[in-house]
Amino acid sequence: MEYRNLGKTGLKVSVICLGAMTFTEKGWRSAGRMEFSQIQQVVDYALDKGVNFFDTADIYAFGESEQLLAKALGKKVNDVIIATKVRGVMDENDPNNRSLSRYHIFKSIDQSLKRLNRDYIDLYQVHWWDNTTPIEETIEALNDLVRIGKVRYIGISDFAGWQIAKSVMLQELKGYSKFVSAQMYYSLLGRDIEFEVVPACEDLGLGILPWSPLAGGFLTGKYSRENPPPPDSRYARMEKPFLRFDFEKAYDLIDQLKKIAHKYNATVSQVALNWLRAKPFVSSIIIGVRNLEQLKDNLACVDWELSKEDVEYLDEITKPERPYPQWFLDMFADL
Ligand SMILES: NC(=O)c1ccc[n+]([C@@H]2O[C@H](COP(=O)([O-])OP(=O)(O)OC[C@H]3O[C@@H](n4cnc5c(N)ncnc54)[C@H](OP(=O)(O)O)[C@@H]3O)[C@@H](O)[C@H]2O)c1
Repeated sequence: MEYRNLGKTGLKVSVICLGAMTFTEKGWRSAGRMEFSQIQQVVDYALDKGVNFFDTADIYAFGESEQLLAKALGKKVNDVIIATKVRGVMDENDPNNRSLSRYHIFKSIDQSLKRLNRDYIDLYQVHWWDNTTPIEETIEALNDLVRIGKVRYIGISDFAGWQIAKSVMLQELKGYSKFVSAQMYYSLLGRDIEFEVVPACEDLGLGILPWSPLAGGFLTGKYSRENPPPPDSRYARMEKPFLRFDFEKAYDLIDQLKKIAHKYNATVSQVALNWLRAKPFVSSIIIGVRNLEQLKDNLACVDWELSKEDVEYLDEITKPERPYPQWFLDMFADL
């Protein structure tokens, strides 16, 4: 296993992080239920291969994902790095059981700690920006959690570039604990974060944690023009309206990925993951699996690397058009 620093911190995380969203299917983003015996197999195999980093969230099945992760880790629950999140709706009928308010953050951390069977969270992430709470209130509450020992590091997820910059500059000005990581959607089919988020994170020292690195299963090569995602597949059910991309271009990309995979005697999933691994700003890639076979396939990406030429080729063929002001700034950068 390869280990990288989480952003600019001294914490070493495996370059592959196992996401626990797929463990269960109740509630938000029903990614597909796994039997507990399968979850146990997957967690044991990941640990055996050196994975020391696990990601979950309070809202994944209203806490069930956190509980199942802790159950599968058993006695090792304190020996690994656990990331969880706060922000989403935990109770439709309670306007305060959601958001990034001090009230909800303090309530939510205790519930997550209980479900995870831990005294502290290694990486506590704000799941996405909250327009209804001043960011000053959120970062003060998070700083207090670090000071009282309930949290080791804090991170963001799904923020815009300016939201990251504003938050971290305020944390710096106030002498608070700063966000160390940014969990964002990033894949060969979704490179939007390269415009604003990646430059902000590089400048401010946050490590990127890509989520849905296989675009919810599309970048595994199991779908093609002849064999599109069946209506009951996870991709068709939940990703199609969510992770938007041009299908024709995506199938062209899969054709190219198959050729590259063949050259390395590897799989399409491994090529897609290794393209992310080649990015120095990525601290760890959060994968999701539904069974042990998928995990074995994906984890084998760490056994080989793409050549510099192949990374550049994939950069080129998936290059998104630069919006304004990026193209203007590129054009006049040296003047
Ligand atoms: N912060 C956020 O907003 C956010 C959002 C989403 C996810 N996340 C995090 O990111 C983690 C990973 O997300 P994800 O599950 O969407 O990741 P993903 O890797 O893009 O998709 C995983 C899905 O792809 C399929 N798959 C994976 N490996 C495969 C293989 N080798 N061969 C064939 N099919 C394979 C499986 O679905 P099927 O077998 O059902 O097709 C699996 O459930 C989550 O667990 C969560 O921790 C965070």
